[in-house]
Amino acid sequence: MGSQGCVVLKVQMCQSILPCHANHQGELSAGQLLKWMDTIACLAAERHAGTACVTASMDDIQFEETVRVGQVINIQARVNRAFTTSMEVGIYVTVQEVLSRVMKRVCVAFSTFVAKPRGTQKVTLKPLDLQDSVEEMLEHSLASERRRLRLYNEDAFTSLMSDYYNLQEKGLWNKKAIIPNLSTELTRLESIELVLPPHANHHGNTFGGQIMAWMENVATVAASRLCGCYPSLGAVDMFRFRGPSSVGDRLMFKAMVNNAFQTSVEVGVRVEAYNCMEWKEGTPRHINSAFMIYYLPGSNGDRRTFPDVTYTTHDGERRFLGAIVRKRIRMARKHILYSRDEGSISVPWDRNNKVYLGYNNVAALTVLAGKQGWEANTINERVGIYVHEEEDSLCIRVVMEVKTSAFHAFSHLSDLRLRPCWDENYLSCKEVEKAEEEETVYHVKCAAINGGKCRDFVFLLSKRQPCKYGDPYVIAIRSVTVATVPHEENSIRSEAKCAGFLIHRKGQSTCKVSYYNQVTSGVLPYIEGNLAGWSKSMEDTAMSCISFLEQDLLTTVF
Ligand code: COA
Ligand code: ADP
Repeated sequence: MGSQGCVVLKVQMCQSILPCHANHQGELSAGQLLKWMDTIACLAAERHAGTACVTASMDDIQFEETVRVGQVINIQARVNRAFTTSMEVGIYVTVQEVLSRVMKRVCVAFSTFVAKPRGTQKVTLKPLDLQDSVEEMLEHSLASERRRLRLYNEDAFTSLMSDYYNLQEKGLWNKKAIIPNLSTELTRLESIELVLPPHANHHGNTFGGQIMAWMENVATVAASRLCGCYPSLGAVDMFRFRGPSSVGDRLMFKAMVNNAFQTSVEVGVRVEAYNCMEWKEGTPRHINSAFMIYYLPGSNGDRRTFPDVTYTTHDGERRFLGAIVRKRIRMARKHILYSRDEGSISVPWDRNNKVYLGYNNVAALTVLAGKQGWEANTINERVGIYVHEEEDSLCIRVVMEVKTSAFHAFSHLSDLRLRPCWDENYLSCKEVEKAEEEETVYHVKCAAINGGKCRDFVFLLSKRQPCKYGDPYVIAIRSVTVATVPHEENSIRSEAKCAGFLIHRKGQSTCKVSYYNQVTSGVLPYIEGNLAGWSKSMEDTAMSCISFLEQDLLTTVF
């Protein structure tokens, strides 16, 4: 039953790469790949929605492998989560060498589609019928976190741009010297396309993938104007489809290099659409802007250096700065979103990156909670303690059945200052900084163990209410470093990698609270006795937590 469900959800395409799909160097053109990816993702979205869908956006993509004529690519797409009118589709592309049968990953992407039948009618999507697969459940949970990031992208850009303008005003950021022969203006170009029926779906809406392919085409020309040779597409920033276009529209593509870094260059493309009427009125519609990152492959698999560029206009200066900001955001995403905490456990707290750090925090807890194969350590009527061992990593789970509403448990557990009321290891907890309602930094002092020094932790706590009925409340906790809380002489600064609570509603006034902790050397002293069997402190703490939540309910209600 489960596997049958997966087959239904997933849409696949296999393509043998022919010369007509490739550039003059025999490499699959990125535009063609984007077109296929969008088509497959759209089919997966429409399979779920049961109606026509349009591409709202495609998140950043990094291309990891070059695909050549003669190889075979496989593209798989699956709806990860349906929100209200939109849904996230995950796309996974691999390439196979026919003779050696070696398979490599080309890229992973996430697109958002909106169900849009003819006219202005909005369609509310049915929730996904999740099967038992762990991977499906995980992607379903992570999809709502990715959605937050997606919708936050513009705010992040605006706030970082204003930081740069402030630096400029204070004279702390130097403009580039003007060297006219390397101006980005020299790479500027325009190109026009007419949308014909093969470029559109049966309602006449232009396929997003077709527009991306045309955009990639002009961007490649702009990049080659700068370097005088053939660049390769390394990554794309998020594509956002601001408005529709349809058969009969003329699409104007404008592209130019915005900035060149050491071994990469950013090209921006703006797309405007107009039909004959609009052209007369002189009001084209701005339907898309995207930014693509090119590199120059060297002969030994390395990357060659781009010439330095400068700007000669006010807009050129703004775009030059914009490219620096986008590069910063991309780097933050890469290191904060995808790093798996090898080496240092704490990450620096930075208000500007609160959304990424929050994502990282919640995503890590979601992955931990999704692990399979927990072994029961202690179980009684109200409390179950489980452990999970995997190579070097040890995780614990404490499940508590609590007679209170899930919301009540969430509001009391997500305020870490209340923890000393029920956890005797917590001596004190102070709020250090709050970034809006959902991300709070706390400084926690914990009791000394076995006559040693006290320990203290600086935690980022990220809390999330359920996105949909049936989802858990999430309280994720991890260590961060904050300049305002330096190390103290009389205590050992310790770190927690990933911990927190998932709270599932069971009834009106009952819930299941699951506490997770991925054990680090800083946390181990507090639980090792329990693991070895000579202490019951975890069970006691869990019982104390239950009575705190239930007792507190009585005092709140009466
Ligand atoms: N990325 C991801 N999702 C986005 C988004 C973006 N940049 N912008 C809007 N959305 C989502 C919203 O979150 C909302 O989802 P929900 O209902 O599940 O909460 C949904 O899209 C509708 O948003 P709303 O604000 O009601 O509508 P809108 O007026 O902004 O329209 C589009 C959004 C995508 C429908 C509209 O911009 C559009 O028609 N774009 C062109 C789509 C198209 O034709 N693509 C093919 C190539 S031209
Ligand atoms: P911004 O100017 O803020 O970057 P736009 O949506 O206006 O945003 O443009 C996106 C990108 O498209 C620009 O960064 C630039 O690289 C390119 N572009 C915009 N207008 C032109 C133009 N007239 N000619 C060439 N390229 C352009």
